[in-house]
Amino acid sequence: MRLQHFDWTSSGGLTLLDQTLLPGEERWLEISTVDALVEAIGALRVRGAPAIGITAAMGLVAALREHARESRAAFTTRVERDAARIRGARPTAVNLGWAMDRMVRRAGATPGEGGAVLAALEAEAQAIWDEDRAACLRLAEHGQPLLARMVTGARLRAGADEGEAGADDGTVNVLTHCNTGFLATGGIGTALGIVHLAGERGRRLHVWVDETRPLLQGSRLTAWELVRAGIPHTVIPDGAAAGLMARGRVDVCLVGADRIARNGDVANKIGTYPLAIAAARHRVPFYVAAPKSTFDPACGSGDEIPIEERRPEEVTKPLGVRAAPDASPAFNPAFDVTSADLIAGYVTEEGVLRPPF
Ligand code: MRU
Repeated sequence: MRLQHFDWTSSGGLTLLDQTLLPGEERWLEISTVDALVEAIGALRVRGAPAIGITAAMGLVAALREHARESRAAFTTRVERDAARIRGARPTAVNLGWAMDRMVRRAGATPGEGGAVLAALEAEAQAIWDEDRAACLRLAEHGQPLLARMVTGARLRAGADEGEAGADDGTVNVLTHCNTGFLATGGIGTALGIVHLAGERGRRLHVWVDETRPLLQGSRLTAWELVRAGIPHTVIPDGAAAGLMARGRVDVCLVGADRIARNGDVANKIGTYPLAIAAARHRVPFYVAAPKSTFDPACGSGDEIPIEERRPEEVTKPLGVRAAPDASPAFNPAFDVTSADLIAGYVTEEGVLRPPF
């Protein structure tokens, strides 16, 4: 199964699948202005750390096209100003700032007037995409050996249970959080990419899909990908994960990352940290999968990672349905930080790493 959720249009604009409407509707948007791009990233029409870096670079090119006749000075000033605005659309995923830095550097290093700089920026955006697609595949390959059955007392006791995890037919039970597949990257995915590749190779797999409150990237997006790929899976409320681990029904946890600090602390979708704690308690290996573009060498530890706080209504009115009294305030951090000591390894395109990187 291959799935593409963004592309160039025939006129050099950016088109992308609006992820806020999935799984109910597949509607493609066209983006040709910085305003529309910032809105699309902020509203999570496109999301996932690598995907927002790539589409930000492509969207910047799309927005710059009508200014290609400008002088070099005017055009490069515009590139810097637009890149700064786009970078501010979401604060946590380092891939966004990383991609904008690459674009600004490339503009500065390209001789000539606006048209020449624009051509170089288009090549740079395409390179960011191509590199991510290749990195995802290499990462997924390095992750294959991690899909192993866990043999513990809880697992042996679970052997008596019925169902996908209890039946002792060699099925590996993976638990994942949020969406880290095609829809989050420029290729097969990171954590979910490992699953997709194993599925393509006919491995016996079953995926526990955390629904991922409050925006349901797990039940809306990961489950949608797994249905298309024909990979057995079960959607669970986030709160069910620890109990499944206690009963030996999870062999390995695979999650993605939005930013990895120098000491190995990881910012990822809210709910990742409690999963890691539960995994440590029940000795379930907990791996983070991410390309090198998600590592932030400028960031010493998780304390320095800016955590995006989103509108309270996403909690009190999920999918537009009132779920809390009007008068109740809500706190809605989009990410949390998992400390390095809870992480068994970091699956990257270079192999499975451990800090110091
Ligand atoms: O708010 P989102 O949906 O952009 O959050 C996405 C995640 O937390 C992913 O796990 C992370 O970006 C890695 S995607 C390969």
